[in-house]
Amino acid sequence: MALSDAEKAALVSVLDEIKPKFQEIGAEAMESLFKDHPDTKSYFSHMDVTPGSQDLKTQGGKVMDAIYDALKNYGNLHENLAKLRELHTTKLKLNVDTIMLLCTSLVPVIVKHCSTADRSTCDKFLNEVAKNLIQA
Ligand code: HEM
Repeated sequence: MALSDAEKAALVSVLDEIKPKFQEIGAEAMESLFKDHPDTKSYFSHMDVTPGSQDLKTQGGKVMDAIYDALKNYGNLHENLAKLRELHTTKLKLNVDTIMLLCTSLVPVIVKHCSTADRSTCDKFLNEVAKNLIQA
């Protein structure tokens, strides 16, 4: 189900608040993904995936920026994610279950860094992002 206007507004203010920490938060979520699902590291074999590495901060920051951008362009979610969909499907051959693993890692990290974040709204939005990252 789509986010209501109130849910969207609440999530925008959560992401605005944690924006200065996007790299740290994204990296923390990726570390948790690699810890819980070590096989996912294989997609990042060209990067330094050691906890705290600059590569993880850069990649984590890119992921969070994309999520923020997707939320800001919520009415156009599918078109907005077209380039990333091409990368994650055609090139990386990821499926929705694997994409969801990063979403599942992200939610508790966002909630930890922002006391006003509502877990179910985060879940709902990241579910939509995951689906739109995969489905044509
Ligand atoms: C919420 C889910 C996800 C989002 C929003 C997301 C977003 C992104 C973004 C913004 C980029 C950078 C694209 C660019 O530099 O042009 C990227 C690259 C990439 N993503 Fe994802 N991603 C997600 C999930 C995943 C998952 C679960 C995996 C693998 C297990 C994955 C693997 C990759 C890889 C391998 C790259 C290329 C990295 C590089 O070589 O620079 N992504 N993703």
